[in-house]
Amino acid sequence: MRIHVSVAWPYANGDLHVGHLAGAYLPADIFARYHRLKGNQVLMVSGSDSHGTPITIEADMKHQSPRELFEHFHQRFLETQQAIGISYDLFTHTDTENHYRIAQDFFLRLREREYLYLEKQQQLYSESEGRFLPDRYVEGTCPICGYGEARGDQCDNCGNLLDALDLIDPRSKIDGSIPVVRETEHFFLDLPAFTDRLLNYLDQHVDHWRPNVYKFARNYVEGGLLGRPVTRDIKWGVPVPLPKWDDKRLYVWFEAVMGYLTASIEWAKNIGEPEAWKAWWYDPAAKIYNFIGKDNIPFHTLIWQAELMGVDRLYEQDENLHLNLPYDVPANEFMTFEGAQFSKSRKWAVWLPDILERYDADAIRYYVAAAMPETRDSDFSWADFLSRNNDELVATWGNLANRVTSFAYKHWDGRVPEPGDLTAQDQELIEQVEGGFETVGAHLEAVHMRAALQEAMRLAREVNGYLDRAPWFKVIEEDRPAAARTVYTALRAVDSLKILLAPFLPFSSEKLHTALGNDGRLFGEQRIETYEEETRTHSALIYDGANAIGRWAPSELPAGQALAKPKPLYKKLDDDIVELERARLGLGVAS
Ligand code: MF3
Ligand code: ZN
Repeated sequence: MRIHVSVAWPYANGDLHVGHLAGAYLPADIFARYHRLKGNQVLMVSGSDSHGTPITIEADMKHQSPRELFEHFHQRFLETQQAIGISYDLFTHTDTENHYRIAQDFFLRLREREYLYLEKQQQLYSESEGRFLPDRYVEGTCPICGYGEARGDQCDNCGNLLDALDLIDPRSKIDGSIPVVRETEHFFLDLPAFTDRLLNYLDQHVDHWRPNVYKFARNYVEGGLLGRPVTRDIKWGVPVPLPKWDDKRLYVWFEAVMGYLTASIEWAKNIGEPEAWKAWWYDPAAKIYNFIGKDNIPFHTLIWQAELMGVDRLYEQDENLHLNLPYDVPANEFMTFEGAQFSKSRKWAVWLPDILERYDADAIRYYVAAAMPETRDSDFSWADFLSRNNDELVATWGNLANRVTSFAYKHWDGRVPEPGDLTAQDQELIEQVEGGFETVGAHLEAVHMRAALQEAMRLAREVNGYLDRAPWFKVIEEDRPAAARTVYTALRAVDSLKILLAPFLPFSSEKLHTALGNDGRLFGEQRIETYEEETRTHSALIYDGANAIGRWAPSELPAGQALAKPKPLYKKLDDDIVELERARLGLGVAS
């Protein structure tokens, strides 16, 4: 089966934080790794969103060019995501010739099919600066929910897309001046033309979409779709492929979502099989999953679909083929931080490059997965991080793996003991853990990451319970065969649990896989690579799974297999970290 994992493209205007990880990247990576272990063909792509006013505003503030700014953060995104193990087949960016060309083809095709129309528009204009103020250059009060800091394009509080003209008391983000209204001309996407097709699309997926995502999209359509401008008065972005449009660009959202397709095409080109992307985009059996945060719902449930339906077919002659639409859009809620919304401007965030200097990737992944905001907002707190790490990751799982492998290593000459005949209890434990390949797998397939992790950890607790009932470390002198049976059984369970936990904890599962004397690597390798386009050089994060042997299947650990000298997989954290981390934020002692 072919699975496309489309992951929201971060704006390359600041470092990645835990909110990004919890919202989209970690669930996407867990999902992709699971499907790779299942033997499915996964194509996971994303990249830096390098255009739009989020980039230009930040670049202006730093007195840099937009390209300098985005390249700086793009490079950091590559390093950060390699370090935290987000296994994109390709993490690229939108400032490539490939992306420009395809986005322009989309534009021309939509125009040819009359899904784009020209219209004069009233637009806010800054007299003090002598320029139009698109999107985020304006702030004001949300006309829908009354939030005071709504942006010209969207309200962060209620999630609705806005037209800057509807903001109450608009002001320029640059100098606070009050803008005036001027006329400008833009291309509009004829969203109303897609109303019936979109409703039909939503209905086809009602059974497996998250109810909040479905409802949001459905209400949006039922509220009456409006044409949306897809060009902007801005100088940075994908040029409009028409004469006399030099001073305008394609709207960032219009082209950024196309990145899911353009990156797939770029990936195919890079591996030297330029048609390979079609297996995910034209085969109706392939499934596309779109991992995003809830603020991105309208673009990923309606607008991207309209664009795909509008072009219908691209670079493909067969009239019976249509571009695939996303099969699921498992949008997450927000992760707040110590009780308050993440905010870049207020510097209220846990920055990934920063915490990766002090904590292991798997410790961070464990906590964020355990507290993932799947059905409601959740909170990242350092006290919680500490207790999840020490009481669960270390106490339940790390100690189990370490205890069992160290004991075997010590008493059986560094080898998996020969068990003789297993007892009913031994068999039962093995079966219980092996049942996890069904139960954990079903949760993962339904994109319920928290439930999947809980189930895997429940099974780890079962193994701990089994060992508590078998006094193997005491009887070793009295009854060596019984101890061998128990230790063998526990090793088998641990070897299976390592796979059940591997999508969540890829680095430590890989180490444990080797420590148990198994050959090969569970997962492939992630590399940062540089490659040339016609006129420019780019860097990208690339996953190479060619040598991965990991399988979503129970342990077959053979007796006698040589173990490596065990090392602890995780670190117990000192209680102090809560105060230290909170002090960094200017917070007091946790209550
Ligand atoms: N850059 C957007 C954000 O950070 C997300 C864009 S997703 C894309 O909110 F698919 F449109 F690229
Ligand atoms: Zn609002």
